[in-house]
Amino acid sequence: MLEQVRKYINEVEQFNSDKPEEIELFRIKYLSKKGGLLTELFNAFKTVPNDEKKDFGKILNILKDSVTDKINYLNNQIESNVQVKTALDLSLPGSAEKIGSRHPISIVKNEIVEIFTRLGFTISEGPEIEDDYHVFSALNFPPEHPARDMQDTFFIEQNPDILLRTHTSSVQVRVMDNQKPPIRTISPGRVFRNEAISARAHCIFHQIEGLFIDENVSFADLKQTLEYFAKEFFGKDAKIRLRPSYFPFTEPSAEVDVSCSLCGGKGCNVCKYTGWLEILGCGMVDPNVLEANDIDSVKYTGFAFGMGIERITMLKYGIKDLRLFFENDIRFLTQFK
Ligand code: DAH
Repeated sequence: MLEQVRKYINEVEQFNSDKPEEIELFRIKYLSKKGGLLTELFNAFKTVPNDEKKDFGKILNILKDSVTDKINYLNNQIESNVQVKTALDLSLPGSAEKIGSRHPISIVKNEIVEIFTRLGFTISEGPEIEDDYHVFSALNFPPEHPARDMQDTFFIEQNPDILLRTHTSSVQVRVMDNQKPPIRTISPGRVFRNEAISARAHCIFHQIEGLFIDENVSFADLKQTLEYFAKEFFGKDAKIRLRPSYFPFTEPSAEVDVSCSLCGGKGCNVCKYTGWLEILGCGMVDPNVLEANDIDSVKYTGFAFGMGIERITMLKYGIKDLRLFFENDIRFLTQFK
């Protein structure tokens, strides 16, 4: 009898299957209450002589445990196989990656940069945290100029003044620090002003600065350059007009309007029925600025201009609220692919 049970144990150890039906037959064979081998063996236990009962009982329990262990093991095996298979089902359709889109400010900045690089302008950059010298003094701002006021400028430290640049004109000074004429460069970047946030104003925005210094640079060169830009950017029908203005770092200075591309100059609510939209400030570099930066103002002349990228983007796409650029609402951003 003992020998027979050992054979069964061996058989159970050898058994292997990944088919639920076969495992069920195996269970019935050993564990079924009616006619299962273990049921029969436990019945036979009664007839075993008393001195053999202990050993026989032990080995029957071993057989019973190995059957249940085997069944549990094989069932677990099937279950984990199913999980692995679902995780690796190569026939399932792939999940598409969400592709981002460039921010409208970057799109417009790149387009403006591209237009000016075609005219031979290089790109230069400067720090956002600046000193008073590069943002104001070297650009001919008088000491009491209101732009230096706490109400406009974010100061980081005072005496000596360290501040967030209020315009990219500071990069002009950085370029002149390192380079002598001829200079032909544009400087895109972020600027900061202490302004209440509204549909038309923000405390952070973007500008592009232009600077051209060489011998015999005239106001006509400035006008020609800006007209080329306007036609490239707004379309060949775009016209520009210059209005006299004032900036400390240019003399003479002008503000430039472009003909309203929405109404073609006839007048609409975007151009406030004037037919014109203001796009930038410009002028001939003030001789004081050239001299402050060690450039001979008798030999050299130059022009400079500066424009707000948010403003130009709003005009180009008819966007009415500046705050949209900073909210990063995906429904807004993906419209500019
Ligand atoms: N820096 C001026 C501003 O932030 C813009 C500007 C005007 C830049 C005239 C220039 C310029 O270079 O010549 O309002």
